[in-house]
Amino acid sequence: MNISSFKLLMMLKLLVVSVLAFTSSAYASNFNAVFERTFGDHRVRTFGQGDQSLSLSLDKYSGSGFRSKKEYVFGRFDMQLKLVPGDSAGTVTTLYLSSDQTTGTHDEIDFEFLGNVSGQPYTLHTNVFSQGKGNREQQFHLWFDPTKNFHTYSIVWNSKLIMFMVDETPLRVFRNHEDIGVPFPKNQPTRMFSSLWNADDWATQGGLVKTDWSKAPFTAYYRNFNIDSATPRTAATMSTNGKTTLGAWRTHDLNAWGRRRLRWVQKYFMIYDYCADMKRFSQGYPAECKHSRI
Ligand SMILES: *[C@@H]1O[C@H](CO)[C@@H](O)[C@H](O)[C@H]1NC(C)=O
Repeated sequence: MNISSFKLLMMLKLLVVSVLAFTSSAYASNFNAVFERTFGDHRVRTFGQGDQSLSLSLDKYSGSGFRSKKEYVFGRFDMQLKLVPGDSAGTVTTLYLSSDQTTGTHDEIDFEFLGNVSGQPYTLHTNVFSQGKGNREQQFHLWFDPTKNFHTYSIVWNSKLIMFMVDETPLRVFRNHEDIGVPFPKNQPTRMFSSLWNADDWATQGGLVKTDWSKAPFTAYYRNFNIDSATPRTAATMSTNGKTTLGAWRTHDLNAWGRRRLRWVQKYFMIYDYCADMKRFSQGYPAECKHSRI
């Protein structure tokens, strides 16, 4: 082999390697590669090039849902979502991390989107369960119409905090208060779940407004997810595209901008805070409420 054909070979190799790298990042948000259906048969649908889009639907007979094939402890979890438009009363769209719920001591980090009648705002409900205990609800209205465009909903979870974000704006921070005896999710492997289902006995305006089934099927759309995490069996931080990342989520915390945004959301868009519900906690607030410094 002479020098120039050797060079040519190396160039070819480089080309093959870069094509492979390209296809592995195209794999990045392939729903079928990372998630599996939990219920709802054909109501879970993936579509588009490389199955990079997914829809869930709900009709009179069933809702639908999916979950990650892998389990995670800590990480950053992003999903773009476009919610059921128009009259979505009685529908609930969920996006959450949960460990095995049959244990009775499971951990869970929840986003739930409660639908409404046309023209009325969705309620974004959040909750954190640690070792089976939840009752830590905060609820928000959104500053945009979540049915018009895709928006990014994120959970950052590390050993110090759990942060809920919408389009990078932090809505809520739940800090690790193990130092004062509040259990914090950190040991149980979780999966990422999402579902669309009917809960018209409680979801909309406290259950007063029922689902209008003449509007069914109800459909929510998903795309551009990213999970950046260490699975329980691998120490390295990997993204769902298979690449090693810097794992910025490990040290993620509020910066000055985030703190300002959080205050803005909590001032103008928070509609319920368990730490301010005196009637419910007349015997005294949960321990973490006294330490809810931002
Ligand atoms: C629905 O709209 C009403 C009236 O604007 C509002 O009070 C409520 O928070 C909204 N969300 C739900 C889920 O009921």
